[in-house]
Order: sequence, then structure tokens, then C-alpha cells
Amino acid sequence: MLRNAKELWLATLACLLITGLYGGVFLLTRAIPAASGFFGHSLGLLGFLLMLLTEIAYTLRKRSRSARWGRMADWLQFHIFTGIVGPYMVLLHTSWKFNGLAGATLLMTVIIVLSGFVGRYIYTRIPRTADGIEDPGLVGQMQTAALANARRLMALWHTLHIPIGMALFTAAFAHMLGAIYYATLLK
Ligand code: HEM
Ligand code: HEM
Repeated sequence: MLRNAKELWLATLACLLITGLYGGVFLLTRAIPAASGFFGHSLGLLGFLLMLLTEIAYTLRKRSRSARWGRMADWLQFHIFTGIVGPYMVLLHTSWKFNGLAGATLLMTVIIVLSGFVGRYIYTRIPRTADGIEDPGLVGQMQTAALANARRLMALWHTLHIPIGMALFTAAFAHMLGAIYYATLLK
């Protein structure tokens, strides 16, 4: 499932395409796209929407007991894809300035993406079925100490990753309201 890393290749490809677009705009306008300009703003908004999707979609599918749509493995790959491409668009949105609350929001975004990579690594240490649950056959062959460690690490990782996500979205909403008010409405 996650072992073929397909989602990482696709995310890299998408980031390269977006970089090409960004480079094109830079060459045409001969300026770094401003965070509040049309292109920079669109990057921020689209990137933010992808991040929101990252935060919500996988969790909903995971928590829904009756849901049968799509395998969990595919949902997690989609989560990782949007969890990389969204933050990358947001990074290009910043116009390479990182002041105040917006800068802090970006820092939290970087932290959650890095934390995601750590989580992805721990996640793949536990043998699973395509539906994300532990594979009873393969788990049975693992040394119990290694398995207990991986489970404990995964639980610890969840208790860190989830609050960072919540703090991040609180800050992002505050930044959006502030940015729209000061940079857009007051102009
Ligand atoms: C997680 C998502 C986001 C992050 C991490 C982020 C981060 C940033 C950063 C670092 C800056 C530069 C601040 C500076 O000048 O030092 C910025 C500027 C700005 N952002 Fe965002 N942003 C996000 C989403 C959004 C969204 C969704 C909107 C619009 C609805 C938005 C609107 C703006 C505007 C208008 C500016 C320019 C402010 C100015 O020129 O004074 N941002 N953002
Ligand atoms: C905007 C960026 C991201 C946000 C907001 C985010 C948010 C979340 C949340 C809220 C969960 C908990 C899901 C649940 O248990 O209900 C989660 C789980 C997870 N995320 Fe992310 N994530 C992001 C990026 C990433 C990235 C880039 C990766 C991998 C490179 C990643 C890998 C994972 C993994 C492996 C899990 C655990 C899945 C499980 O235990 O079922 N995330 N993420």
C-alpha cells in the first residue's frame, strides 16, 4: 500500500508543475508574486482548501463505521498527496515573507508536514491490510516487542500530530480574517 510511495511521486510531480507555473508568472511579471495579488492569493486559497481537505477527509472516512467507499489505503495516499501539495502552494503564497501570525501559521504548516513524514514511516512499520487495519497473519509473525514499540510510537505520534493540526487551523483562520480585513478591505 504505502510501500510503493506512489503518492510521494505524484506529489513531487504536482509540485514541479506548480513551480513551473510560478516560474512562468515570475518571468512574465518580473516580480515575486505578492501574497495579496491575484496569483499569490489564489495559491494561498487553493493551498489552504487542500490542507482543509487533508485535515477532514481522511478522519471522516476513518471514523465512519458504515462507510464503504474507497479503501483506507487509497484515502491515506490521497491524504498525503494533498498534505504535501497544499502546504507547497501555501509556501509559494507567502512571497517569502514570514512575519507575525502568518509566519507562525506557516511554521506550524511545515511542522505538521514533517511530522506527517515521521508518522508515515511509523505507520508502515506495522503490517496492515488494504483497509488500514493490522494484518492478523503478518502481525502474528512479528516479534511482539517490535510490534508493541511501533504501536506505542504511533499512539504517541497521534497525540502530537492532531493538536498541531488544530492549532494550525485556528491560526490560519485568524490570518485569513486579518489578511482579508487589513490587506483587502482597507485598501
Ligand atoms: C495555512 C494557510 C496560510 C498560510 C500559512 C499563510 C501564510 C502567509 C504568510 C507567511 C504571508 C506573508 C506575511 C508577511 O508579509 O510577512 C501571508 C500573506 C497574506 N496572506 Fe496568507 N497564508 C495562508 C492562507 C491564506 C488565505 C486562505 C488567504 C486568503 C483568504 C490569505 C491571505 C493573505 C494575504 C491577503 C496576505 C498579504 C498580507 C499583506 O500583504 O499584508 N492567506 N500569508
Ligand atoms: C496539511 C497537512 C496535514 C494535515 C493537516 C494532517 C492532518 C492529519 C490528521 C488530523 C490526522 C489524524 C487522522 C485520524 O486519525 O483521524 C492525520 C493522520 C496521518 N497523517 Fe496527516 N496531515 C497532514 C499532512 C500529512 C503528510 C504530508 C503525511 C505524510 C507524509 C501525513 C501522514 C499521516 C499519517 C501516516 C497519518 C496516520 C494515519 C492513521 O493512523 O490512520 N500527513 N493527519
